Amino acid sequence: MKLFLDTADPKEIAKWAETGLVDGVTTNPSLAAKNGMDYVESLKEICASVAGPVSAEVLATDTKGMLAEAKVFAKIAKNIAIKVPLTWDGLAACRALRGDGLMVNVTLCFSPVQAMMAAKAGASFISPFIGRLDDAGQDGMDLIREIRAIYDNYGYETQVLAASIRGVPHIRNCALAGADIATVPVDVFKSLLNHPLTDKGLAAFLADAKKAGVRIRDE
Ligand code: E4P
Repeated sequence: MKLFLDTADPKEIAKWAETGLVDGVTTNPSLAAKNGMDYVESLKEICASVAGPVSAEVLATDTKGMLAEAKVFAKIAKNIAIKVPLTWDGLAACRALRGDGLMVNVTLCFSPVQAMMAAKAGASFISPFIGRLDDAGQDGMDLIREIRAIYDNYGYETQVLAASIRGVPHIRNCALAGADIATVPVDVFKSLLNHPLTDKGLAAFLADAKKAGVRIRDE
């Protein structure tokens, strides 16, 4: 499964990109507002440190406006994916942008039928928001499983990009459910390797080696 970072902070992205394990980035207007930088400038910096798709979200709600904003984003770098909302205007923009050869991420997906419509419009990525569904008392993972089944039934090539991730269990469940990608907040990404038995085991190995004088090289 691919992992994207879900942040608009270029410094954090550059830092974690060094692991070689960041396959792309998603941003949205709320993340851009939190970051406080000029949105287009921050996207330029992000695209310089990540080779994979970087989603840049439109603010316009009409197709014409979305296409005009997409033009600005598309000039930033080749790896920009235009992020449009799951509305009739958004899907019209999706079809036009795909026709121009651009990647499109259709966002704010909360139902399997919405996801099917985005695939029919040629979306490169669909972003189901699992955390927000959980928050509303539904099971967000059901949505991932149902989209996976629909896409497999009809051979849709749109990639399932699980979004609104709240913790490591979401990543495990997305991987088991066959999501193509999960976009992960930085604090969750940092905790992906955490396990108390890893820490305890490492401490025990090192203590045993020290006690017995086990050496690998002279220092
Ligand atoms: C990413 O594409 C989404 O915009 C993001 O994951 C939404 O996350 P939130 O529900 O935590 O705001």
